Amino acid sequence: MSSTDLLAPGAVIGILGGGQLGRMTALAAAAMGYRCHIFCPDADAPASQVTDRTTLADYGDRDALDAFARAVDVVTYEFENIPCDTVAHLAGQVPVHPGPGALAVCQDRLAEKVFVNCLGIGTADFRVVPDPSVLPALVEQLEGPCVLKANTMGYDGKGQALIRHPHEADDAWLAVGARLCVLEKFVAFECEVSVIAARDRTGRVVCYPAVENRHENHILKHTLAPAPDFEDRQEAAQAIAVRLIEGLDMVGVLAVEMFATTDGRLLVNELAPRPHNSGHWTIEGCRVSQFTNLVRALVGLPVADPGVRGRAEMVNLLGAEADEWAALAADPGASVHLYGKAAARPGRKMGHVTRLLT
Ligand SMILES: Nc1ncnc2c1ncn2[C@@H]1O[C@H](COP(=O)(O)OP(=O)(O)O)[C@@H](O)[C@H]1O
Ligand SMILES: [Mg+2]
Repeated sequence: MSSTDLLAPGAVIGILGGGQLGRMTALAAAAMGYRCHIFCPDADAPASQVTDRTTLADYGDRDALDAFARAVDVVTYEFENIPCDTVAHLAGQVPVHPGPGALAVCQDRLAEKVFVNCLGIGTADFRVVPDPSVLPALVEQLEGPCVLKANTMGYDGKGQALIRHPHEADDAWLAVGARLCVLEKFVAFECEVSVIAARDRTGRVVCYPAVENRHENHILKHTLAPAPDFEDRQEAAQAIAVRLIEGLDMVGVLAVEMFATTDGRLLVNELAPRPHNSGHWTIEGCRVSQFTNLVRALVGLPVADPGVRGRAEMVNLLGAEADEWAALAADPGASVHLYGKAAARPGRKMGHVTRLLT
């Protein structure tokens, strides 16, 4: 397939990763007549439950990857901790969007911050921490509370530790796993927001409005769409997302997490080159969801204006909260989504509920 071909319905989208983001992407693809083939190491994964094709293999299994490449027309991934080697290997055989370069930036906190700063966009002040011996001095330099983050493989607050005083440095280093880290100054934020942008093969970009995200124990709990009391900063937040997705030269969907600081700045916290939990509201809240726009970009269709229907609120169902599914579903105004996960471990994302407010 040439990279300019439009894939017709019936074509197969390969998805690396079997979680809920892959599941919702596969559901959007199915609605448009496309098939999905999941590649993941876990049996009965949320995404596999809604597709008829899964390759159950490790991400390093070259034979399985080669067979997968032959069986699909285009490849994407639903989480950014897929090894870059895996994606680069596939990209030699089949179009992969977003490409390996964008993935390499977004799965490495240091590369990500350097990239963002090079575009003239702000982040929290940060330092590279190669070794615990230098950590107390770096904490002193940043003057005040800091967050130590493992450079790779973090999610839902895992691999992070707060440092209030230099003498807490050793404990923090051990807590994040004694590996290359980024030390960030703790940002006094008014709120956390995110913007999702989608970009197609022609370079056209569409943006969803900035939403406010409220976390509990470092895990997203509530999303309010659009972000309340944020009208004056919407344009600036969306402009940042557009510059970043263009800078990465990405085809697909990019989520940009930002801190809106008490002194009026927007600082980029994290990038995710895939659909994002803070965009789940777009399934009911927009005419074209983040998942549909990802599928459109992957198959070569133009990305479509989101068509926001109004205000919406999304609540994650974490761990045992999903046991309340019957009571939640009794409310006709609540769209209850469950991901088909068997074990409701504390803090695990089991589902979400979206309500349209207007
Ligand atoms: N520098 C910081 N200042 C203030 N809060 C932070 C900072 N870094 C992270 N946090 C908080 O922790 C959450 C998770 O951190 P993040 O870097 O997004 O990692 P991940 O989402 O990969 O676990 C953020 O959404 C925010 O609430
Ligand atoms: Mg985050």
